[in-house]
Amino acid sequence: MKYLITTALAYTNGPLHLGHARSTYIPADIMTRYLKLKGEDVIHVGGTDNHGVPITLTAEKEGVTPEDIVEKYHNEIKHDLDSLNVVFDSFGRTHSDIHIKTAQEFYKKLRENGYIYEKEIEQFYCPKCDRFLADRYVEGTCPFCDGEARGDHCEVCGRHLEPTELIDPYCVHCNAKPEIRKTTHYFFKLSALNSDLEEYIKSSEEMPEHVKNLALRWIEELHDWDISRDIKWGVPIPENPNQVMYVWLEAPIGYISFTKQLGDVWKEYWLKNYENLRFSNPVGYENQRFSNPVGKENEEDVKIYHFIGKDITVHHSVFWPGMILANGDYNLPSSVISGGYLTLEGRKMSTSKKWVVWVKDFVENFESDYLRYFLMINAPLNRDSDFSWDEFQKRINTELIDIIGNFIHRTLVFTQRKFKEVPIADKESLKEEDKALLMKCEETLTNVDKNIRSYNFKDALMNIIHLAKEGNTYFQSMEPWTIKDETRLKEVLYTCCTVVKYILYLLYPFMPKKTLEILDLMGEEVDLELRGKKLKKPKVIFKKVEDEDIKKMKEKLMASKEPKTDGKNKGKNKTKKSNGEKMELIGIDYFDNLDLRVAQILEAEDIPKSKKLLKLIVDIGDEKRQVVAGIKGHYEPEELVGKKIVLVCNLKPAKLCGVESQGMVLAAGDDVVALLTPDKDVPVGSKIC
Ligand code: MSP
Ligand code: ZN
Repeated sequence: MKYLITTALAYTNGPLHLGHARSTYIPADIMTRYLKLKGEDVIHVGGTDNHGVPITLTAEKEGVTPEDIVEKYHNEIKHDLDSLNVVFDSFGRTHSDIHIKTAQEFYKKLRENGYIYEKEIEQFYCPKCDRFLADRYVEGTCPFCDGEARGDHCEVCGRHLEPTELIDPYCVHCNAKPEIRKTTHYFFKLSALNSDLEEYIKSSEEMPEHVKNLALRWIEELHDWDISRDIKWGVPIPENPNQVMYVWLEAPIGYISFTKQLGDVWKEYWLKNYENLRFSNPVGYENQRFSNPVGKENEEDVKIYHFIGKDITVHHSVFWPGMILANGDYNLPSSVISGGYLTLEGRKMSTSKKWVVWVKDFVENFESDYLRYFLMINAPLNRDSDFSWDEFQKRINTELIDIIGNFIHRTLVFTQRKFKEVPIADKESLKEEDKALLMKCEETLTNVDKNIRSYNFKDALMNIIHLAKEGNTYFQSMEPWTIKDETRLKEVLYTCCTVVKYILYLLYPFMPKKTLEILDLMGEEVDLELRGKKLKKPKVIFKKVEDEDIKKMKEKLMASKEPKTDGKNKGKNKTKKSNGEKMELIGIDYFDNLDLRVAQILEAEDIPKSKKLLKLIVDIGDEKRQVVAGIKGHYEPEELVGKKIVLVCNLKPAKLCGVESQGMVLAAGDDVVALLTPDKDVPVGSKIC
């Protein structure tokens, strides 16, 4: 079996923060290291994503070229990854010849296969700058809340907008009023792939359940994809050099381009039926048509795993496989491992609000291995998790150091004092209690294997902690300091050293630096055998995380945080969505302005055009209202009927997806969305105060 592990290509518009590390890069590195340890044929391929409008915006703001920005952040990102000991077999960038060529060839194949068509659309055009404006280059006022909106997104109410819906739009370069002009764009026929994608998702055995579910929901309403942009920065569309490919079309092709950087072996990972073709067709794969493959699929020989964060799950489980299916030449991913989001001290991370911890700042102050450990043990990978400095300190000091570190340290110190080397005992003559502990080592090996291969990194670490606890209990109950008989003492310390060896072997993928330091003291390799080498004098490998260092980091975070009002918000409605952030205090009259009432849902129905919205008819006591609620996928329309909920009754009516909404339903949550309902049965229409 061959494994190709990829990690999401980081945007070169900033360095890496702990969130990137948590969802994507650390888990992928652990997986790669683990599989390599097991002797599997595995490579890790990654790189940076250099195109897209945010990069040109940053360049314009800083008065440099997009190439300058790419160069700067590509290097910083690679440096951040190195500092975390995340290693790659190939690391590329999308702004490179090999990628541009690969992406264009991929595109041509889509075109040849009939998946690309042209269509005229309407776009903003700035007459003063003489160019089409991508979504983010147009700002204006949100038609729903009067807040400030940027292209396709209102910064205040969070609604998705068609840029042409904006009130008083202006060009962000020159402030001129853009006009709407017609332009011809290229479209990818994603909608035609509906049933192929459904079959792919349903039949994929390794894809995590939550990824499958999300993909299947998207597949239900697939729209064709506008894949060209009227800008210069990007991969040119082969038949129209005035347009470039939408970044999300070309970026994932980077996984192929960067594997190509390794030379001809790339074909073994990517080309469908490569093994069969190599043997059945001596002329070479180039002359083969792949559209009608003979022989067994290659999927048993190669597994492609994409490690990503949850925000880009649909891109990897629907759009990218759709592209591969339409192209026809390449292997489909076996799994998409989508890591949960990381919040910081209970709040959403935000680079613009400076609520963020950069990888660079972390590793300047603490061991990178501590971060790898903490981010993996703190929550299962597929869940969101929180980084808090106190929790970090606590888990490192009272778990990693007190349990694992302590067992390793006392074993090595004691053994070194007694024998100066790792004693090797005769396995046959060991006592029952020794053998029982060695059995635990084997069990741990099996459990960790199962957990890592199913991406349960947290559970794998828990298995290791558990083994260390068993080791501590054994050490304590054997009281080696009382053993006079040298043969027996050797047996006991041999048993302890074996447990240490197993722990180090299993911990290595998680904490490569620290485990190698300890193995070096023991004169050992990363494997399961004890060699009986000379023991160096043990030093403290796991240093405690000190209170003052934590205090320093907390102060730094608080100091860098931007003050709340930046004066940039020109919208009338300044109460931004809170994200748990402290809001300015309000008087009771402010609250009194809200007409919140208990309402009962009478009817609920799907709005087919929309991914998120349901249409509800609710009773608010003295009248009936039609409201649109963003709860699709979280509730089935049928289960809503009869529910009592809370409605904001005096919200200005607005049209969402063409459907009028006369009020807003209150709900909470992000992943799990819950409607707010009264705790006891109160009459419909009751005012909330
Ligand atoms: N360029 C795209 C990926 C293209 S892949 C063909 C991208 N880049 S990114 O720099 O924004 O993100 C890099 C990785 O970090 C992605 O896997 C993304 O999901 C993840 N995360 C970004 N912010 C994150 C958090 N706050 N928390 C957890 N993961 C985060 O997306
Ligand atoms: Zn302009």
